[in-house]
Amino acid sequence: MIETFELTKKFGEFTAVDRVSISVKGGEILGVVGPNGAGKSTLVKMLCTILAPTSGTATIMGLDIAKDSQKVRSIVGYLPEEPRVYDYMTAEEFLTFFADVYGNGRQRIPELLEFVGLSEHAKRKIGEYSKGMKHRISLARALIHDPPVLILDEPTMGLDPASSRDVRERVKEMRKGGKTILVCTHYMDEADFLCDKLAVINKGRIAAIGKPEELKAKVAKQRYLTVVIKEDALMRKLADEIGGEIDGRRIIVRVKGLNSTVAKVHSASKKLNATILSVKTLEPSLDDVFVAVTKGGRWV
Ligand SMILES: Nc1ncnc2c1ncn2[C@@H]1O[C@H](COP(=O)(O)OP(=O)(O)O)[C@@H](O)[C@H]1O
Ligand SMILES: [Mg+2]
Repeated sequence: MIETFELTKKFGEFTAVDRVSISVKGGEILGVVGPNGAGKSTLVKMLCTILAPTSGTATIMGLDIAKDSQKVRSIVGYLPEEPRVYDYMTAEEFLTFFADVYGNGRQRIPELLEFVGLSEHAKRKIGEYSKGMKHRISLARALIHDPPVLILDEPTMGLDPASSRDVRERVKEMRKGGKTILVCTHYMDEADFLCDKLAVINKGRIAAIGKPEELKAKVAKQRYLTVVIKEDALMRKLADEIGGEIDGRRIIVRVKGLNSTVAKVHSASKKLNATILSVKTLEPSLDDVFVAVTKGGRWV
């Protein structure tokens, strides 16, 4: 069980995490999703007691992250964004080292190596490992003390599709084992596949919380139009004219009344001499939830 209450982190004047209140139950995977710089890593670093909060509180299985930091570390397995491994050690030596740091887990090493698919490479130096293998050994290291709570920061970033799938499957298996899991990711397909619940974070604030299906349904109800025009040079002007936001090659605009918004798009395009290639309603995928939240403002 993870619970945060108005958790906040400031770096000087800048607020990286702004009054975040979330909760994750046992046997549940919560995804913290949001664009780069949204505050995901800062949030979990506080939970893992690496950074001290500026204000607010959080408990992990009832233990206060500020008052019981030592104990918190003993019950949390943390996979940092940039896995830190010791290249000069073999996988076995690496896991033995951390088992001894925690004072338990040596007997779990063969099982863990098996779990992350590295049994055959146990006696190789980590320096010779591929990026995917380094990620997997870091995951094993996060699990060495059999923590009931797992916090994974972008567990598949930079991995090839096969390695990513592998890691995701492992994470799902751990949920079945009853662990409480928090995963930060900016991959929406990963969030959709893995998570029971999502907290969408943008500029340090939680913009929406819910099951993936609920969030998609909300966006469907909210309704956005995507407009594509031929002339790149006119996109900014048209977006301003219709009150939309540019997202790659499209302009996203919030629908007030469908007919009137479509009419506005057409008249503005005509005025600017822009050639409309398509005007579509946004199909509710998680990617669009992301766009709606980050471009369309807060809507919870
Ligand atoms: N130690 C730090 N000092 C100053 N600013 C920081 C520090 N760590 C992170 N930030 C800033 O806080 C914001 C959130 O960063 P981060 O939590 O890493 O986002 P995310 O993981 O969602 O990409 C960013 O704007 C980042 O530049
Ligand atoms: Mg991050």
